Order: sequence, then C-alpha cells, then structure tokens
Amino acid sequence: MRRLQPPVAASGPAFPLSPDRTRGELSLEQLNYRWPNGNQALRHCSLQIPRPGLWMLVGSNGSGKSTLFRLIAGLIEAQSGTISTPHRVAMVFQNPDHQLLLPSCSSDLLLGLTASSNRSDRIRCIDQLLDQLGLNGLATRPIHTLSGGQKQRLAIAGALASDAGLLLLDEPTALLDPESQRTVLDAVHKLCHHADHPLTALWITHRLEELDRADGAARMKDGQIEPWRDGRSLRQRLQAGRSDR
Ligand SMILES: Nc1ncnc2c1ncn2[C@@H]1O[C@H](COP(=O)(O)OP(=O)(O)OP(=O)(O)O)[C@@H](O)[C@H]1O
Ligand SMILES: [Mg+2]
Repeated sequence: MRRLQPPVAASGPAFPLSPDRTRGELSLEQLNYRWPNGNQALRHCSLQIPRPGLWMLVGSNGSGKSTLFRLIAGLIEAQSGTISTPHRVAMVFQNPDHQLLLPSCSSDLLLGLTASSNRSDRIRCIDQLLDQLGLNGLATRPIHTLSGGQKQRLAIAGALASDAGLLLLDEPTALLDPESQRTVLDAVHKLCHHADHPLTALWITHRLEELDRADGAARMKDGQIEPWRDGRSLRQRLQAGRSDR
C-alpha cells in the first residue's frame, strides 16, 4: 500500500464541493483489506474528503467502518490502494475510559503535548484545549468524577493535543445519554467550523439523527463507500427504509 503525504488531488465525489480546492483533507483510492483470517473487510474502497468539516459515515454492522479507520490511522496496512492526507491523524473510540490514562484532566492532556514546549506554554495550551471543548475550570478535576460526555470531550481534547488535523471518531456517542451525546456533537461541530482553523472530522454513527449535523454523509456497505450526500437527506432516505443501512 502506498501512503502519500502531501496528498494527490482528489477526484470529485457527487456531493457539491468547493471548486477551487484541489488538495483535499483525505484521499483514499481503491483500498483492499483482508484480515488474516480471510475476512475481506474493504473492497476497492475509495473516499475523498474535499475540505475541513464534519463528515459522517453510516453503515450496517460489519460493513468495514472501523477497519477503514484503523487503516487511515496506520494501525494496519492495506494489501493494496492509497491513503493520503496532509494531517496528523488521531482516533477517538466509543469508550473514553479506554483512552484516558492519567488521573486528572490536565495530566492526561499533558501526555499528548509535544515535550519541546515550555511549562507555561503547556499550561496555556491545556487551558485553551479545555476551553475549546467546554471543559473550562476542570484542569485539576479527577477524571473519575467527570460525566461520560465530559470524558469523551476530554478524549477529543487529548487527540487535539497531539496536533491532529484529522480526527477519526468511531461511534463517539454510542455509550452516552442524549444530553451528553449533544454536548459531544456540538463540540466537534464547533471545532469543524472554526473561522480560522477548521478541523476535519470523520465520524461513524449508528444514530441517524446525528447525520443532520454533517457537512456530508455517506453510507458504507460491503467494504465500499457510496458517494457523499447531504446528511439530512441521507437520514430521511434511511429512515424511510428506501435503502437499508
Ligand atoms: N480483528 C479482526 N479479525 C478478523 N476479522 C475482523 C476483525 N475486525 C473486523 N473483522 C471483520 O471485518 C469486517 C468489517 O468489520 P468492521 O469492524 O470494520 O465493521 P464495522 O462497520 O465497524 O461494524 P460495526 O458497525 O459493528 O462496528 C467484518 O466482516 C468483521 O467480522
Ligand atoms: Mg465498528
């Protein structure tokens, strides 16, 4: 498999794109991946993310979504195909308890920060990250006292601390109550629409109502990704049962 940085120009998906953007945030071309036990998880799978924003994938169990994330994050290697992105990639999983390692919010974020910056820069950076994720004032809070939504937002802050420009979120709200689900989605949506430095996020969900917040949404099926659609219309289409998830 070839891994290119910076990326080659993205070819155009069906969803409307900004015409002047030629580099793209992520480009996947013809990825094939077979697990060692013979399961073929991805089949000639291609995807272009043309610009920063919140992009969502939906698909039935076993359609290959998590395998795709592992490939983009470089945890496994495809038998063939190309992945290119100009960004450092970070993953956020369903269960933040699997991702938060140290006892307090600030100590956990410190783990991700580059060692080269000095102490006052690091403290300022931690405060900024907590602020961006709506966790102001929680720097010294023990992690076990946070709600599920706060933990998940802290896990996202940790991903950003590592300077990631492409966030891969694998069902980040699956274990959360509706209120926490909303706070996490709001936080990521805001980061992805920041006026100066919008983030690029690829978000896997089984919660169809979340598709309404996407800048583009696509269905994954049998190891392939269909073209981008408007999130709301994909949700309506899936809910109407015209198309199985
Ligand atoms: N570690 C593994 N070893 C072997 N096969 C695997 C492994 N992980 C996933 N698979 C297989 O790869 C295919 C895609 O699985 P994957 O977990 O990527 O799907 P998914 O779309 O994330 O599903 P879900 O919605 O249930 O999370 C399935 O056939 C699955 O059984
Ligand atoms: Mg999965």
